[in-house]
Amino acid sequence: MTALDRERLQEALRAEEERFAVTHRRSGELYEKAKASLLAGVPMPWMTEWAGPHPVFAASAEGAHFTDVDGNYYVDFCLGDTGAMTGHAPQPTVEAIAKQVGRGITLMLPTEDSAWVGEELNRRFGLPYWQFALTATDANRFTIRLARAITRRPKILVYSWCYHGTVDETFAIQVEGETRSRPDNIGPPVDPALTTVAIEWNDIDALDAALAGGEIACVLAEPAMTNIGIVLPEPGYHDALRTLTREHGSLLVIDETHTICAGPGGYTAAHGLEPDFVTIGKPLAAGVPAAAYGMSEEVAGLVLSESRALEVSDVGGIGGTLSGNALSLAAMRATLENVLSDEAFRGMIALGERFEAGVREVIASHRLPWHVTRLGCRVEYAFSPSAPRNGGQAAAAQDRDLDRFLHLHALNRGILMTPFHNMALMSPSTGEEDVDRHTEAFGEAVERLFG
Ligand SMILES: Cc1ncc(COP(=O)(O)O)c(C=O)c1O
Repeated sequence: MTALDRERLQEALRAEEERFAVTHRRSGELYEKAKASLLAGVPMPWMTEWAGPHPVFAASAEGAHFTDVDGNYYVDFCLGDTGAMTGHAPQPTVEAIAKQVGRGITLMLPTEDSAWVGEELNRRFGLPYWQFALTATDANRFTIRLARAITRRPKILVYSWCYHGTVDETFAIQVEGETRSRPDNIGPPVDPALTTVAIEWNDIDALDAALAGGEIACVLAEPAMTNIGIVLPEPGYHDALRTLTREHGSLLVIDETHTICAGPGGYTAAHGLEPDFVTIGKPLAAGVPAAAYGMSEEVAGLVLSESRALEVSDVGGIGGTLSGNALSLAAMRATLENVLSDEAFRGMIALGERFEAGVREVIASHRLPWHVTRLGCRVEYAFSPSAPRNGGQAAAAQDRDLDRFLHLHALNRGILMTPFHNMALMSPSTGEEDVDRHTEAFGEAVERLFG
């Protein structure tokens, strides 16, 4: 297999940084100006971590493309890390938003759209009762609270190197069989080992042992890990997860925020899972803040029988003044009805297959010790010869310099990939020519390093 020459990589990275500086001057100026009013010159601190000397400032976006303030035109495979999986500014959602804005944005009263969306989520995910939040983070937080209230157990179980938003309990990893704080966990309220048990994905024995203690209120899991690269479940893992959670009296929360890429009803519908809760956010309203969490008949009954659980919920930890607002609901309805349709998914998944095949061909023709994984319309390539089994293995295979080079090389050729890993997502507006453009640029990048 072909080995990577680190000096050659550094040289190639420097050349791309120089090219970027010349073609992104206006972004550079805005970044310098923003340093006077924004911490580190960006609206969110991690935006400084995009590959390149400074972030690209966006000007406008439509469908699968956007233009930056320097007039550079890009195909967007990041799609707001799934928030814009619908494509940017999809017409049906834009029209519904414009209409609703003129009729009232938030009232703290239900609108007719809420029941329509609840029914549609039921149809897609097979869970009867739904509630709304503004972010997937909050959907997860509220669900964890309900799981604790129902089971009267203190801890949750997560998978090492998972990500479920900024939920305190989830910043835990497993090190030598023990639950520890994830590196760079900023100001944790308590040691995560007090609230959480972290185990490795795909390890049935570890799952059984962790649940047997009887202190786990719920398992919070992506049905396939997507935030440390894609790590798929091994055959039989989901069956074991469902059987063991039931056996040990723990609830099962499936977070579909990213795995909605597997189909209209996410991985849950595509693979017949039977979770107690489903959580989802990001693309539900084409990027307008909106999230939802659904629950089974049995769980709903337990929530309703929790004394005062509903009356005091707002001051009891399940709140958000703007949650379930009229605008989010109108945008969700339009998006689910007309944008993220069953038909759209068929096209998106076919494009994912094309993307995967292109990358696989480049990897094979250069005999690289890399691999490519796909889940529906989401594709990821990573720097180990075979797919990792769990988060720990995936984290160990990360290569920051290589990552930065590939991202910047792509960016300089008008292609935006999801930051911090080499992930691409297809939208209903993405075209075959967009996918082929990536395959060609990826081939060039590989040639530059290994040719
Ligand atoms: C699986 C998963 N769940 C939840 C979230 C949190 O989403 P948000 O940041 O919109 O709250 C993310 C964000 O990346 C995610 O990947």
